[in-house]
Amino acid sequence: MKVGILTSGGDCPGLNAVIRGAVLVGDRSYDAHEFVGFRWGWKGLVENDWMHLDRHSVRGLARQGGTILGSSRTNPFEGEHGGPDNIRKVLESHGLDGIIAIGGEGTLTAALRLSDAGIPIVGVPKTIDNDLAATDYAFGFDTAVEIATEAIDRVRTTAESHRRCIVVEVMGRHVGWIALHAGMAGGAHAILIPEQPESIETICGWATSVVDRGRAPVIVVSEGFRLTGMEQPHSHKGLDAFHRPRLGGIGEILAPMIEERTGIESREVTLGHMQRGGVPSAYDRVLATRLGMHAMAAIERKDWGSMVALRGREIVTVPISDATSALNTVPSSRYEEAALLFG
Ligand code: F6P
Repeated sequence: MKVGILTSGGDCPGLNAVIRGAVLVGDRSYDAHEFVGFRWGWKGLVENDWMHLDRHSVRGLARQGGTILGSSRTNPFEGEHGGPDNIRKVLESHGLDGIIAIGGEGTLTAALRLSDAGIPIVGVPKTIDNDLAATDYAFGFDTAVEIATEAIDRVRTTAESHRRCIVVEVMGRHVGWIALHAGMAGGAHAILIPEQPESIETICGWATSVVDRGRAPVIVVSEGFRLTGMEQPHSHKGLDAFHRPRLGGIGEILAPMIEERTGIESREVTLGHMQRGGVPSAYDRVLATRLGMHAMAAIERKDWGSMVALRGREIVTVPISDATSALNTVPSSRYEEAALLFG
């Protein structure tokens, strides 16, 4: 068999480990399959921009951040060469039997549409946000939580030195998993997530009670958080290629509001793309490697339109639509549990 691989959407630590897992197991266990890597996500597939992949090109990749294939937020249905007809021609020109598409919600939604149009695709879920239903965890999330936790630990010492409030903004799009986990791990005094709007008065109350007992408040806010009364999350950066608002900036709004209402000097730190950079954690390396290996098995079974997923400790195969039909949001019970420690 001959298999194409692409990494699409926002990058995250572990993409290279998936590529390595798929190529190595394809080489070892399935009659020395051949691999073609498409560069820059869907863009490489529609424009036929590719590189040869073999076991030598994936050597040592499990610990390497980013993606050797490059990525982009390209919509494969748009542009001069977009759409299934041209993609089919590209597959035929290489003699490819199937494609492994590694990506998040936008990538998998496009993969599902292409699969419905007859393109042979198997999906691999990746996202630091952990927002995909149908998989218990996506690789990249664990690493992002580690990075955010270290940042919160560091911010805390400078906050204490100056008796300041520091608001730490993390990524996560419309779900609060990174904020919840990093906030709990870092002992934040409040964690603000998209699933649970809060009023500025409640947030200021938490900050004030921390200062009243001689501490400096550290507040973790997810980029998709809305204050009570805000209909949409804050967004001032336009839309991405899938017409979704680019989020970020709520921390910059909250810090001066807290300072003005409480008199506590406040600062804001946005962690941004730092959360997606650098080497993957051991957990993410293992998960990504296993997902790559199982994606290859799904290709072998011609399980088109499916996605590999983590359920408990096992890797299973589910329809891609299971992952894209609903968001994996933070249940209110998890927020209420964390909120017992706020203030
Ligand atoms: O989905 C991953 C993510 O990092 C989100 O948390 C964030 O909102 C978005 O991607 C940022 O996208 P970009 O890299 O295009 O700025």
